[in-house]
Amino acid sequence: MGLDRAASVDDLRLRAKRRIPRFAFDLVDGGAENERNMRRNSEAFEEVELTPRYMVDVSKIDTRSSVLGQTFDAPFGMAPIGMLNAFWPGADLMLAQLCKAQNIPYVASSAASTTLETLAEAADGNGWFQLYVSSDPDVTEGLLARAEAAGYGTLMVTADVPAAGKRDRDIRNQLAVPFRFTPEVIMQCAMNPRWALTSLKHGAPNVANYADLLQSATSYADVQKTLITPGFTWDDLKHLRARWKGQLLVKGVLHAKDADMCADLGCDGIVVSNHGGRQVAFGPPTVEALPAIAKAVAGRMAIILDSGIRRGADMLRAKALGADFAFTGRALAYGVGAGGEVGAQRAFDILHLELVRALGQLGAVSLDGVGPTYLSKFKDA
Ligand SMILES: Cc1cc2nc3c(=O)[nH]c(=O)nc-3n(C[C@H](O)[C@H](O)[C@H](O)COP(=O)(O)O)c2cc1C
Repeated sequence: MGLDRAASVDDLRLRAKRRIPRFAFDLVDGGAENERNMRRNSEAFEEVELTPRYMVDVSKIDTRSSVLGQTFDAPFGMAPIGMLNAFWPGADLMLAQLCKAQNIPYVASSAASTTLETLAEAADGNGWFQLYVSSDPDVTEGLLARAEAAGYGTLMVTADVPAAGKRDRDIRNQLAVPFRFTPEVIMQCAMNPRWALTSLKHGAPNVANYADLLQSATSYADVQKTLITPGFTWDDLKHLRARWKGQLLVKGVLHAKDADMCADLGCDGIVVSNHGGRQVAFGPPTVEALPAIAKAVAGRMAIILDSGIRRGADMLRAKALGADFAFTGRALAYGVGAGGEVGAQRAFDILHLELVRALGQLGAVSLDGVGPTYLSKFKDA
């Protein structure tokens, strides 16, 4: 199927699957263990019904949305994704540039395959930085200082990785550090020549922000220790709040009590996220966690939601349930996998046009008007 015939994000995913070696496709497409949580993310969105209101003049629809004092042209941004250039060479930069061009936020991952400085330049004011707290405080401080120097105003600290997620697909694909060219990998590359040639041209991707530190890594455990720590606690968050002068978001909040504590600590917002179902199989989908969180937060800070957004209407569902803004990880990534820069643009256009259409169908001219009264099961309506 050609890019122009891709009608949905799911179509782009299928096209990406045909162009990318399995081990690299699975790296992005996969979830934790039996992928129950990842599946539930999508199912739960489908279960949220919105009832349209008719005979409202929707000839002018405005998709602008403000969050954390910045106004964007759409109510969604690009979530942080580590090592995305392994999925498609140059993906990080393509997405940062897309976000700048469309005036939506781009979150540069600590574990990106492009340095935070290069991504700050490409996103040009639309960039936020995602931090993994390392087991080595000097590593964390180094990243913070670099993020400040690069001009990032918003820091998103990820809380939902006390341990790396267990992803069965990656184990089956025998992904290892350092990367090994097994006969199977070579065969998969040979079957995807465009990916293989583009990858050769770009060189092997690495976790660019830690390139020097990880040069001598000989195991996955080495990488993990540098990137994350099981010892990240509320005390550390308190210190981080004092240390970071810009806006601070906590990503990976699923419990109302945790959301409440983030607000008490002076965070500017949270991302209700289950990491796209990549951390635990047993957890709740984010749209199910959201209402209790929105109630606990009660307007004290911004609520952003991600995990499972594949349709424009999903953003309206999230908004109706109490989110201020949304992020998507894989939807835009699939676009890049399906067709590089043009594919990324196609993914954005699909989501945005779906959103415009859904707003009109719902009888709302802007995001501001979308609230709980549209929920089919809203008791007070
Ligand atoms: C391949 C991949 C890598 C990711 N890497 C990071 C990361 O480095 N830091 C982080 O906070 N979240 C990371 N995430 C989670 C995303 O930021 C986001 O929460 C998730 O993709 C949302 O779910 P969705 O893909 O269904 O939209 C990653 C997700 C994927 C798919």
